[in-house]
Parts: sequence; structure tokens; C-alpha cells
Amino acid sequence: MARLHRIGETGRPPVAIEIDGVAVTALAGDTLQVAILTHVDALRASEFDAGRRAGFCLMAACQDCWVWTAEGERLRACSTEVAPGMRIITRGSPWQLEQS
Ligand code: FES
Repeated sequence: MARLHRIGETGRPPVAIEIDGVAVTALAGDTLQVAILTHVDALRASEFDAGRRAGFCLMAACQDCWVWTAEGERLRACSTEVAPGMRIITRGSPWQLEQS
């Protein structure tokens, strides 16, 4: 279930990305945070408990919105613009893989 619902600016060009292996469509100019949260309920797992995180400050200060690409690059979702072909991982963060 999506955490965010787009209510405006729906006419921007589509951008194809993947979230956890699922093909989705973002819009040009979206941050990764918007692109991801308009499709799923969280950006990543908490490193402190079993909870899921969706970002907090929306201005690149709190570091609550880290996501990973399938290639292993860590990105701050609130300050990274979506780009065609991005493959984003919201499950299986490095600390989760270390614990399994
Ligand atoms: S939401 Fe705070 S750094 Fe991205």
C-alpha cells in the first residue's frame, strides 16, 4: 500500500524504475522519496528494531531516508532525483543481510 497519493502535477513525463524488483512509473522531477512512497509504504527497514522507515525531515538532514540501489549504492531518497532505469531496494538493507 502506498504511503503517499499524488494529487497534482500529474502531467510530467513518466520515468520507469524498479522498486524491489517490481517495475513502476515515477514522474520526471520526483525525488526518490516521492517515487517510492507513491507505490509502497516505506523506504527501508529500521536499523534499531523491526519497524519500517519513510523519512522524516524531507530536507536531507535527518538521514532517515537512505535507500540502496540494486548495484549497492546508498542514496538519500529525499534529495535524489529519480532517473530512468533506477533499481531501488527497500528490503534487504545491508544490516539485514548481515543478520540473516
Ligand atoms: S528525510 Fe531526512 S534526510 Fe531524507
